[in-house]
Amino acid sequence: MDITILGIESSCDDTSAAVLRNTTMLSNVIASQSVHVKYGGVIPELASRAHQQNIIPVIDTALKEAGVSPDKLDAIAFTRGPGLLGSLMVGVSFAKGLSISHNIPMVEVNHLQGHIMSHFIDLPDRTLPHPAFPFLCLLVSGGHTQIVRVDSPYDMQIIGSTIDDAAGEAFDKCAKVMNLPYPGGPVIDKLAHEGDASAFRFAKPRIEGYGYSFSGLKTSFLYTVRDRVAEDADFIEKNKADLCAALQKTIVDILLDKLIRASKDTGIRDIAIAGGVSANSGLRERVVAEGEKRGWRTFLPEFKFTTDNAAMIALSGYYRYMNNEFSTLDVAPAARI
Ligand code: KG4
Ligand code: ZN
Repeated sequence: MDITILGIESSCDDTSAAVLRNTTMLSNVIASQSVHVKYGGVIPELASRAHQQNIIPVIDTALKEAGVSPDKLDAIAFTRGPGLLGSLMVGVSFAKGLSISHNIPMVEVNHLQGHIMSHFIDLPDRTLPHPAFPFLCLLVSGGHTQIVRVDSPYDMQIIGSTIDDAAGEAFDKCAKVMNLPYPGGPVIDKLAHEGDASAFRFAKPRIEGYGYSFSGLKTSFLYTVRDRVAEDADFIEKNKADLCAALQKTIVDILLDKLIRASKDTGIRDIAIAGGVSANSGLRERVVAEGEKRGWRTFLPEFKFTTDNAAMIALSGYYRYMNNEFSTLDVAPAARI
């Protein structure tokens, strides 16, 4: 029997809705919020308001593009957390309203598991490669940096995570130091192509096990730039590309060091990356290069599945549905889970 699922994602600053038939994506609509750019970061209150404005047109468009009416839905999958509480509340409340009015079961999804499960989305016109269980996933986003051991869609274990900043945060905060627009990751990625990564050296952490830390790198970047600007007011302008290239290389080095170690220790050689930072070209190239050297099968998400999207939430919801894991109407969003 075919299962049709509506996915709703509203954890941060993208309002998204998607429809999947089993694991095949029929639509995936994303409304990004430009309101935050002028503040250099996401303002939670403004994000909630924008979600409230976007959610009905986004869901309506996703259903229309898929050619599915609400009464044909088998389940509504929604992001319960982690994320901004006010943002999550918009998606969760809408899911409840739709569930009550059309008598459709609800399935809650963990946003981070959604990113990981994005590797199992099928497209109507072409098949994408899926990792085999168990695999390791380097999950790198604006709020999280983790190495996750994935034994099944229901069984995931975080074996390493950051003790301070996330990788995306390091990109975004260093971009701010260089007066680059938010979000900084994509801008740094672009500028890094024209720069010399060996022009600067920044601090690398020494953390036990598979843990990460990016706050030392951030501080070392800030001090380097501050000291040099004191000598030459045009320092940033003249060295932007080199700074970006060196910063990106350092972040990628830090990420790969622990990922390689985790693969060696566990013997797992199906390696995936996910989350907003998995769009980074330096990271993607390096994962592929290490994979060739080490006999990994590497899985890089399509660009449209790297940043927040509802297709990954619907896909995760599909597996929960198949496992009879439903939510009741008293479910509440959770900023941290
Ligand atoms: O997963 P995501 O869309 O949202 C969170 O759940 O946090 O990730 C957003 C993060 C931001 O920090 C952004 O700067 C970063 O992903 N990002 C990138 C690139 N594209 C997005 N970082 C580095 N290189 C990129 N090309
Ligand atoms: Zn995310």
